[in-house]
Amino acid sequence: MATRAKRGKSKQPAAGKAGAAAPPLNIVVVGHVDHGKSTVIGRLFHDTGSLPEGKLEAITEMCRSRGMPFEWAFVMDSLKAERDQGITIDAAHIPFRSQTRPYMLIDAPGHHEFIKNMITGAASADAALLVVDVEEGVRENTRRHGYLLNMLGISQLAVAVSKMDRVGFERDRFDKVASELKSYLGDLGFDAERVTVIPVSGRDGDNIANPSERMAWYKGPMVIAALDAFMASPPLTDLPLRFAVQDVYKFDTRRIIAGQLETGRLAVGDEIEFSPAGKTARVKAIEAWHTPKPKSAAAGQPAGITLDQQIFIERGQIGSHVGAAPMLTDTFRARLFWLGRRPLKTGNRYRLRLATAEYPVRVETVERVIDIDNLATSAADEVGRHAVAEVVLASRGLMALDPFTANRKTGRFVLVEDTDIVGGGLVDMRGFENLRGRFAIKSSNIVRREHPIELADRWRANGHKSAIIWLTGLPGAGKSTLAFGLEQVLFRKGMHAYVLDGDNIRHELSADLSFSPADRAENIRRVGQTAGVFARAGVIAISSFISPYRADRDRARTVAPELFHEVYLSADIAVCEKRDPKGLYAKARRGEIKDFTGVSAPYEEPVAPELNIDTGKLTVEESLDALVEYVQRVVALNR
Ligand code: ADX
Repeated sequence: MATRAKRGKSKQPAAGKAGAAAPPLNIVVVGHVDHGKSTVIGRLFHDTGSLPEGKLEAITEMCRSRGMPFEWAFVMDSLKAERDQGITIDAAHIPFRSQTRPYMLIDAPGHHEFIKNMITGAASADAALLVVDVEEGVRENTRRHGYLLNMLGISQLAVAVSKMDRVGFERDRFDKVASELKSYLGDLGFDAERVTVIPVSGRDGDNIANPSERMAWYKGPMVIAALDAFMASPPLTDLPLRFAVQDVYKFDTRRIIAGQLETGRLAVGDEIEFSPAGKTARVKAIEAWHTPKPKSAAAGQPAGITLDQQIFIERGQIGSHVGAAPMLTDTFRARLFWLGRRPLKTGNRYRLRLATAEYPVRVETVERVIDIDNLATSAADEVGRHAVAEVVLASRGLMALDPFTANRKTGRFVLVEDTDIVGGGLVDMRGFENLRGRFAIKSSNIVRREHPIELADRWRANGHKSAIIWLTGLPGAGKSTLAFGLEQVLFRKGMHAYVLDGDNIRHELSADLSFSPADRAENIRRVGQTAGVFARAGVIAISSFISPYRADRDRARTVAPELFHEVYLSADIAVCEKRDPKGLYAKARRGEIKDFTGVSAPYEEPVAPELNIDTGKLTVEESLDALVEYVQRVVALNR
């Protein structure tokens, strides 16, 4: 047989340009077992000379002694067994090399393991090889494998159409499957032009690493050449800087910001913006213990830095270069792998961990669920264990993140319930707004000046901390009543507090604004900033605004996240409308007020307010007591 590969170990020539130092390209092989996946892999290892000495002979002997025909699939099993000794792992990583570069073949025993590994980052594939049986053609399974690869962000794909020996190496049979494949893959979102489809025979080795004389009609690359044409993912050091803050240490006079350089590089003198807080400072030094201080640091390392300014930074912030910062959002679509024993449902709350940050989140919608046992897709509102789903998550406050396709470190997260990790996922921002655009500063040549008095000194002088107590809720929920009530109680206790009230501010600072979504956003922006000024002055700012849009409230929170307390007055619409203290609901129902919240304009409930007071059920006194008790606790100096 002309194409039968030489037996024994054929040494590959020395590595080419990619060099031995290049990290291996991670490649995942998918396809139904019966479609010849293991045979293709066994061949690939053999024909590239990647099998250890004597391996083939051992397998031949093993098959002979058991009275069974030689099986290429055993090569794979035996390689895996060799690498896994004693360790239980979800996916085998088996190295091999072509003439140009090293590879790591990721083989997961099943979909579960593969998807879980991909989503949690335990394994990451740069590209995929899909094996499709020429006699079977494109089946539902193939389509779903394609769907999952696409969902996991793997865009480089080659397809081996296997078992060509079974159809007499006939071109027509191949062409039919190939064109069907291309149109399927194109529909899924792959660039069909860039997907190489190769007719192969795993059994005989045609077009794996040796060209096939029996398929002279095929002019494209062999499998190994198609793999060699894949691009390696850019090294993490080449991506934009993402410095995830772990902790801030006070050390002699220095405040050292310790964190992990997830991607990119950082150097002394760089201007660093911390997100989502939005504060900026320059790197003064990169600290080191017993060695001279380095001038720069790169991805993969922990680093401790000092800054040229005292800005408030805490765990979870992500440092980046100005102009290349992560996105800001309070909602995104997640491609999720669910591990929780209890199903994930719309409305459920979890904690989302992304790099070093942790955010409270709520499941807004479950868009699509994929059962990975049978790979069936369905619309559902809950996600069972080991299912993959596309869900929309909303957080309290803005999150700093990247789409997974742009940064695999800051585009990935896990969900935590109590102390358990219950899911892992990838960030998909398509169709969601990057709220960073709403923070643009238009003036230039402006320089911040530090106040000579520290906030902590103001707090000590006042006898309490400052805070932003942000009341939100429907018209008639009792915001103004509680806000002014709180102001009075605090004043009588000798505390410094001041109310910013919707109706008042709209007579003054926001007199130029209507109730359109854009004007409400601007209203809340102004109020958020004003509340921030009060808080920095040492005062307890009590704001009382409907503030119906979550994104607007989340932006207000960024003004002073550590001092911001969202208080949701959760009386429902029926109660508020019945009260109708200003007669505005009635007017709105008559069509005399447009964009009236609750009637003709939306109210978006908080995801995880620091305090929830059901003013529909509690009396004014009870509500006020709850509010006073909370505020006194959070502004206490010794807290
Ligand atoms: S917000 O949406 O921008 O936060 P804000 O709290 O300042 O609203 O103002 C709400 C007050 O304006 C209400 O208490 C009500 O008295 C008055 N108002 C007038 N028109 C509207 C409207 N279309 N929607 C809501 N409130 C309105």
